[in-house]
Amino acid sequence: MAVQPMATDPERPRRRPDLRSYLRELEEAGELERVGSVVSIRDLGRLIEASDRAILFESVAGYSMPVLANAVASRRRLAMAFGCAEADLRRELARSLERPVAPVVVDRGPVQEVIERAEEADLSTLPAYLQHDLDAAPFLSGAMDVSRHPETGRYNIGVRRLMLRGPRETGVDMVAPSDLRAYYRRARELGRRFEIAFVIGTHPLDYLASQMRVATENEFDTLGALRGAPVELVRCATVDLMVPADAELVLEGYLDGDWTEVEGPYGEYTGCYGAAHFNPVFKLTGLMRRRDAIFQSVTISGRRLFHTDSAVLASLGTELRVAHAVSQAVPEVVDVYCPPEASGFHHVRIAVRVRQAGDARNALHAALAATEVKMAVVVDEDIDVRDDRKVEWALSTRFQADRDLVVLEGMRCIPLDPSLPPNQGWHVTTAKLGIDATRRRDKPAHLFDIPAMPFEDRPRDWFQPESRTELQALRERMEASLGTGPRFVDWLEQERGVHQAQIIQVLGMLRAEGRIRLDPDGRYWPAEPSAG
Ligand SMILES: Cc1cc2nc3c(=O)[nH]c(=O)nc-3n(C[C@H](O)[C@H](O)[C@H](O)COP(=O)(O)O)c2cc1C
Repeated sequence: MAVQPMATDPERPRRRPDLRSYLRELEEAGELERVGSVVSIRDLGRLIEASDRAILFESVAGYSMPVLANAVASRRRLAMAFGCAEADLRRELARSLERPVAPVVVDRGPVQEVIERAEEADLSTLPAYLQHDLDAAPFLSGAMDVSRHPETGRYNIGVRRLMLRGPRETGVDMVAPSDLRAYYRRARELGRRFEIAFVIGTHPLDYLASQMRVATENEFDTLGALRGAPVELVRCATVDLMVPADAELVLEGYLDGDWTEVEGPYGEYTGCYGAAHFNPVFKLTGLMRRRDAIFQSVTISGRRLFHTDSAVLASLGTELRVAHAVSQAVPEVVDVYCPPEASGFHHVRIAVRVRQAGDARNALHAALAATEVKMAVVVDEDIDVRDDRKVEWALSTRFQADRDLVVLEGMRCIPLDPSLPPNQGWHVTTAKLGIDATRRRDKPAHLFDIPAMPFEDRPRDWFQPESRTELQALRERMEASLGTGPRFVDWLEQERGVHQAQIIQVLGMLRAEGRIRLDPDGRYWPAEPSAG
């Protein structure tokens, strides 16, 4: 494996080097809830869902490992993992992905402190909990898989849920098209055993990196890109694979069988239950872990989808892909936001600066075609796409259903969406919705402006309430300004030392004399006094 030293870059934000230093930082920032009392494994799902912070259970009755959940389940925490501002997250992710960093192999690492082989290794000792009440069994949802192509040896990394089936066997969901699925199929064609390792508890950005679609020789390069440093790898104890040396826990083994074993049901990333799947199984051959390993759960579903790790990671990834696709179709993409409430995959809002007719449509088509997004809304640059209220307002004032809707049928989709028709499996397609909520261009732009007070008063110049300006002088100044078509606000600005009541008095005089007229744009102009 190539060793590529990393040049230090002073411009790069400072990343946390590993999970543990990240947890310390979360705690200092009030972003980590530490539960010191003994809790029951039966209570974990409920307590995790109720917490707005990352949560660490130090003591789970009957288990020796602490449990961590929701480590990156908010933008704020994700930004802390990157060491950047929340507003810079997408830019930082894109920038990181441009610089893959090859891993380095080291002799030993903390994950090798305890090694258990064959019968010693026992999955029932892990504090995996029932995450949603109708799940078929406790799932390990923080399992980052590491495997290799059976012919090329290329390292592949993803995240796959594991359903506990016994002390040395789990279900593994490999229904969706993925590199892992293709690699395993190939290994079966070749009649070879397919070894795999599942890393549980790792650098907070590894789970995000594993979801990125980047063409690399070795997917550890992408983990290195996001970590901003080479991933140090150690050899597994019972399989021929390398894993991050700083991991908390690694399950080693192999995939077995065809797509025949019932796996699920499970609370899916959609926030709904998915039906049971038919899948191969994972057989455990060994386990490596730190002496004081933390068992990490990456949350996926439940009633508060918006604060699951899965939705937060997905929304950032979707934003990146939408921003890229739309920037190919429209010259000025101002912002993109993917609300985690809609799973991080399904809805997106895009702000563009419309330069030319058709820009909004181009943006909608690009976003809907390039991603799994089901509904895209395009707004003008003055709408903050992260602000629900502003987006609602834009929809209510800039959108006409007969003119501004785009419906695309027969589009590719993730079949787990429960609104899709039944029994079509992976042949199913979806309809997609685009909403153009940019303002119409055949009316004056100011009609769509957000009403706002345009200036701040400066207390220094305030009028004295008791002072009275000479009305004649004020009148002359106001009349003189009429040639420029002032709005009322311009007089307020211009006459800061004058009481507003006096401006109104002068306005009344000019009107009474027929010397002033108001145009439909809200501007005052001189008028010829009417005869008689
Ligand atoms: C928390 C989490 C759990 C996931 N669980 C699964 C899963 O069980 N099965 C699956 O096919 N994809 C799952 N995914 C998505 C895959 O990890 C993702 O598509 C990945 O990019 C696939 O990698 P690959 O194509 O390189 O194999 C999960 C993602 C996350 C973040």
